[in-house]
Amino acid sequence: MQYDQHTTKNILGLQLPTDPRWVNLAEISLEAILTDHAYCEQKAATTCITLIQKYSDKEKLVMGLAPIVTEEWGHFRLVLQELHKRGLKLGKQRKDEYVNALIDFQQKGGSPDERFLDKLLTMAMIEARSCERFKRLSEGLNDAYLAKFYRRFMESEAGHYTLFIELAETYLPKDQVRARWAQWLAHESEIMKDIEVRGDRIH
Ligand SMILES: [Fe+2]
Ligand SMILES: [Fe+2]
Repeated sequence: MQYDQHTTKNILGLQLPTDPRWVNLAEISLEAILTDHAYCEQKAATTCITLIQKYSDKEKLVMGLAPIVTEEWGHFRLVLQELHKRGLKLGKQRKDEYVNALIDFQQKGGSPDERFLDKLLTMAMIEARSCERFKRLSEGLNDAYLAKFYRRFMESEAGHYTLFIELAETYLPKDQVRARWAQWLAHESEIMKDIEVRGDRIH
């Protein structure tokens, strides 16, 4: 696979592209990749439910995220189906270093608005990185069926990234959202470097 840093560097503002070796790794252990992916979809669904419960007074958020819960759960089922079809098993959920590191970056103090913003930006970040990884998989996998499979996810997660940013801008000043998002992007690239140095997988 050709690795072109210039075309992948700026996907959704991400500052560091995924290590291209990851795609080869994915081909070696499809069961592990599909298992990680399945839990990633499951967590996306449960986090959206948690956000709806916590911010039930924000109508646009509730209306926007309700269908995403269904969509993410649908993604989980699609991944489960792929595992089943291939005679592979849904493995155990791994400790998610990447998501944990993002959560560590969330404001613990600050105002309720700032904490709310960080929750939305955490989700935007996860969606953006998932989108980038699915793009890389869809372009890098030799299996044409799987390449198409991941392309669908890529498009869907790109839409979710946009929704989380739009929701942030609905409830908070755009300048504040952009300034904090820039900090998230910078921090996320540090997390990626750290994880890749240690050779851990992320979804
Ligand atoms: Fe998804
Ligand atoms: Fe998503």
